[in-house]
Amino acid sequence: MKYLLLACAVGLATGANAQETSRAAGLEHWTRVYEVLSNPRCANCHVGADNRPMWSGPNYRVARVHGMNINAGDSRKGDEHIPCMTCHGSENGALPHAPPGADAEWRLAPVEFEWFGKTAREVCEQMRDPTRNGGRSAADLADHVSHDAFVGWGWAPGLGRAPAPFSQSEHEQDILGWGAAGMPCPD
Ligand code: HEC
Ligand code: HEC
Repeated sequence: MKYLLLACAVGLATGANAQETSRAAGLEHWTRVYEVLSNPRCANCHVGADNRPMWSGPNYRVARVHGMNINAGDSRKGDEHIPCMTCHGSENGALPHAPPGADAEWRLAPVEFEWFGKTAREVCEQMRDPTRNGGRSAADLADHVSHDAFVGWGWAPGLGRAPAPFSQSEHEQDILGWGAAGMPCPD
């Protein structure tokens, strides 16, 4: 009996340890995921309900609101004002400070995916909440980042802009690793 209890206690302790390890590993993945999402190459399009894209880069010491009074409107692509596509085409401009482009209709991300200026915990809570992430699983999110044109652009942003950290496939693996650990969020 004594041995049985002991075995149970050891079993429980190992179970708890395994959970802790998996949470710690998941959080490590999340830290890297957040490093990407909060990078200007991603966050500058993932802005809030004021519909203002952001600019940043070596020549902008801090992120600033997109020049020329650009406003994406509720359409998130400028239909109410000047469409983004007036300047942003399907490829990056060849000169420094020329408008970047990608093989998709240039626009802001939906406002539910607002990341600009948010903490690691806030973005994490938002990303794992099915009511705010379009009902997507970690696998769905990983699938998006593996072949979306804008995500690809984040690693090939054109002259004078630093790419997002790590690589696109590492980012995909980090989202999957975070998902496998049960999508833990920092306290
Ligand atoms: C040019 C603007 C733009 C940039 C830059 C951008 N995104 Fe997005 N993002 C969007 C749009 C638009 C959507 C909505 C996609 C849709 O409706 O299919 C989106 C959606 C997402 C989603 C939600 C997943 C989903 O299934 O819809 C994720 C995750 C994401 N982006 C990651 C990134 C990452 C990572 C980067 C940087 C490497 C990035 N984005 C850069 C515009 C952008
Ligand atoms: C009148 C032309 C023009 C219009 C219209 C325009 N942009 Fe831009 N955009 C630019 C230029 C030029 C740059 C490059 C600035 C630089 O690198 O100094 C740029 C850069 C950007 C960047 C890259 C910022 C970065 O640091 O990674 C984003 C994001 C962006 N624009 C979003 C938008 C969105 C969304 C719209 C539509 C609501 C839009 N732009 C409309 C000219 C325009």
